[in-house]
Amino acid sequence: MRHFLTLKDFTKEEILEIIEIGLEIKKDLKAGNYKKELEMQTLAMIFEKSSTRTRVSFETGMFQLGGHALFLSNRDIHLGRGEPVKDTARVISSMCDMVMIRTFEHSMIEEFASYSKVPVINGLTDSFHPIQLLADYMTIKEYGMEKNLVVAYIGDGNNMTNSWLMLAAKLGFELRIATPKGYEVDNAVLRDAMDIATESGAVIKVMNDPKEAVRGATIVTTDTWASMGQEDEKEQRIKDFKGFMVDGLMMCLADRDAKFLHCLPAYRGQEVSEELLENHADIVFSEAENRLHAQKGLMVWLDRQRG
Ligand code: CP
Ligand code: NVA
Repeated sequence: MRHFLTLKDFTKEEILEIIEIGLEIKKDLKAGNYKKELEMQTLAMIFEKSSTRTRVSFETGMFQLGGHALFLSNRDIHLGRGEPVKDTARVISSMCDMVMIRTFEHSMIEEFASYSKVPVINGLTDSFHPIQLLADYMTIKEYGMEKNLVVAYIGDGNNMTNSWLMLAAKLGFELRIATPKGYEVDNAVLRDAMDIATESGAVIKVMNDPKEAVRGATIVTTDTWASMGQEDEKEQRIKDFKGFMVDGLMMCLADRDAKFLHCLPAYRGQEVSEELLENHADIVFSEAENRLHAQKGLMVWLDRQRG
């Protein structure tokens, strides 16, 4: 049995296989063919933070696969009133077939997974957002951009940046990260990624100049400057991130055919301009839709692992 907590635990082949299963399921779905591979299964979804895409994609995905999804907000379950993680894990995993968790500390899902009898999926922690990267790479593939891929991530060194680092390190593409001073990526994650990159051939560069990062890039991406849980820092961050908005001018430095990705939700006028986002709406909203297909691929893959 496998959990999906970070991309670090997965090989390149496994990541590509999950995406491939997702693409096949997408093709079937578009042809009106629902394969109920997870019939009679239940996915428990624990949300300690807000969500639009993650909730809708997992709940819809599980339904389309013939199963059922339970939405459990921490306002409703005893976890939010202090019931220990290890007890919650043993109870839920005794009744459900898979668990998805969106929470703050990454150690919470590690603890949950260590007590869980069923696969646990990271639906976002303060440290990683790996399911988003499955959808992002699926989108890159669909747009035929995986060859000579150079990704520029502009903005906060956060859970998305950490996940891009792991994806680049595993798959072996070039990733440039530009953050303002003081908002750099986590050192331990960077070290891990650099180690993995020596085997995969990935080129990873971190810097503080967004223009340098974007120059010649084939994919430019960003994320909110204030993640969930950092609402109090928002005003300070808007000042500190001056010059880091991805807009048409910045995009001019990228490759002629470069595309823009955003995990969403987007804050127009902050990390991205209204115009740039709307100009790239086709790929950005395909990326959002691919959350559904990629996560169906992941759930089917995890289910197959337990034989
Ligand atoms: N990108 C993403 O995870 O979106 P939600 O927060 O809406 O789930
Ligand atoms: N970095 C963002 C991602 C949202 C999908 C956050 O954690 O809020």
